[in-house]
Amino acid sequence: MKTIKKIGVLTSGGDSPGMNAAIRAVVRTALYRGLEVTGIRYGYQGAIEGDFIEMQKLTVSNTIQKGGTILKSARSKEFMTVEGRAKAAENFRNNGIDALVAIGGDGTFQGATVLHQEHDFAVVGVPGTIDNDLSGTDETIGYDTALNTALQAIDKIRDTADAHERMFLVEVMGRDAGFIALETGIACGAELTLLPETLNHLDDVKTSLREILTNKKRSTLVIVAEGDESGGAMKLQTDLKEDFADIDMRVCVLGHIQRGGNPTARDRVLASRLGSAAVNALLDGHESVMVGVVNNNIKLTPLKSGWSKKKSIQIEMLDLNKILK
Ligand code: F6P
Repeated sequence: MKTIKKIGVLTSGGDSPGMNAAIRAVVRTALYRGLEVTGIRYGYQGAIEGDFIEMQKLTVSNTIQKGGTILKSARSKEFMTVEGRAKAAENFRNNGIDALVAIGGDGTFQGATVLHQEHDFAVVGVPGTIDNDLSGTDETIGYDTALNTALQAIDKIRDTADAHERMFLVEVMGRDAGFIALETGIACGAELTLLPETLNHLDDVKTSLREILTNKKRSTLVIVAEGDESGGAMKLQTDLKEDFADIDMRVCVLGHIQRGGNPTARDRVLASRLGSAAVNALLDGHESVMVGVVNNNIKLTPLKSGWSKKKSIQIEMLDLNKILK
């Protein structure tokens, strides 16, 4: 087993609420276990540029409740090259960094997997993304907060939709995955939810909407996942315009507000557990794994299957939505 004296920690890709809580847990667990910790700013780009800061107990004070990431984040094109990764690995070694905790989503883990393969560098991934699309954990850090942020916004949209008796097409994030859409759809009582995981031809959508409208509900909320094959809420509105010309229809794209804000209690606890588990995994000799929580227990998964295996969504929840609408 390799000796680890100092670990590096970085956040990469789209930030998610709870990343700071995860950094804090990594730093404090590492210090507790007698290690030194270096923070790498701006994700893999900072690794290439040597943008390193030493992390102490107080560096992470008063951060558990904050959104964003104190280490900043980036999507580094350079790290996708062999040369970029070699530079990062060289910087790690020159700075005495023996292993890495990478907090992020699938792009972050793809980079970490290759870094390990090419440079025999130990990396543990901590799943941090609002999309919840990583296998090997029931939930990713930031997902619960994003759900609640989206829900608060949608509840407000329902008020005005009801007042004007309008239809709203509300687009939520999630990239190619429909987790946010599915669960906000249920929680806000959406009349229709469109996910990338289910194929809905435009004609099916029109049929569903006609059925909803004949029930004479005062307002209609359609939740559209950004990755849905309809092309998103704006495109859908354009495609529906002709057939629903008499319907007062509006679009709201929630966008990046879903990525910000104070993490919920659930995300803070999840991030604290996973950040700590990542350090323990490195000290136990694991070299290319992702930490997750499955059925409330810490679970280690090979890093590669975290991003390469598609996480299954509980499509049957859509039926619940149909019954309750
Ligand atoms: O992966 C997180 C996420 O917020 C996705 O839901 C979204 O598709 C994407 O990032 C947006 O990325 P960017 O902030 O680079 O526009």
